[in-house]
Amino acid sequence: MEVVIVQDAEAGGELIAETIANLLRRKPDALLGVATGSTPLPIYQALTAKVRSGALDASGARIAQLDEYVGLPAGHPESYRSVVLREVVEPLGLTEDAFMGPDGAAEDVQAACEAYDLALAQAGGVDLQLLGIGTDGHIGFNEPCSSLASRTRIKTLTRQTREDNARFFDSPDEVPHHVITQGIGTILEARHLVLLATGEGKAEAVAQTVEGPVAAVVPASALQLHPHATVVVDEAAASKL
Ligand code: GLP
Repeated sequence: MEVVIVQDAEAGGELIAETIANLLRRKPDALLGVATGSTPLPIYQALTAKVRSGALDASGARIAQLDEYVGLPAGHPESYRSVVLREVVEPLGLTEDAFMGPDGAAEDVQAACEAYDLALAQAGGVDLQLLGIGTDGHIGFNEPCSSLASRTRIKTLTRQTREDNARFFDSPDEVPHHVITQGIGTILEARHLVLLATGEGKAEAVAQTVEGPVAAVVPASALQLHPHATVVVDEAAASKL
């Protein structure tokens, strides 16, 4: 695992956007796995700036979603499908044809999960998976004690994660209890994992991820098992290393 300490979130976003740009220059139709939450926004902004300035042609890029709430209508502004289309797909000048994600509104959620794992494999696998980290060490929505070999499946959110994500909804009660997430085993199949963590609130989770044992109680520690994992942290998130 490679750990890179940068000054702040903006520097982290710029560094990772350059990594993605280099991937797309080498492989124009690369499949980019994207995460939601506040942390990766500087990456998407830096990448969009490269496209708009003409420094990068991202027109062949394909975008895959990491996780999704269950039960929100597809058009809900906080469904992760909506967020990824708004923050990544549209700013990069791509269309929904370039996008794939699990169907959080499916009647048969288990079948939707299996279909998504299959679709990822049929698309050739994820070339670079962006990850954030929850304050409890989760990646995607793989809460503590998720199996390190897990596949895409339905999960129940912890109270902590529902509280952390309540800021995106009008009231805390609106945060769904259930989600679909790529499993840890699914995530580990991506060719390159890039986790960005910023701010003091992530320092403990980062320390356990990087320096603690590989353990299901800290799902992000599974990155230690991957041959090509990069953890980019700002100085605040690195403060307990
Ligand atoms: C959610 C997402 C994760 C994200 C986490 C942290 O739980 N499912 O993918 O990493 O939030 O979000 P933030 O970056 O806003 O702290």
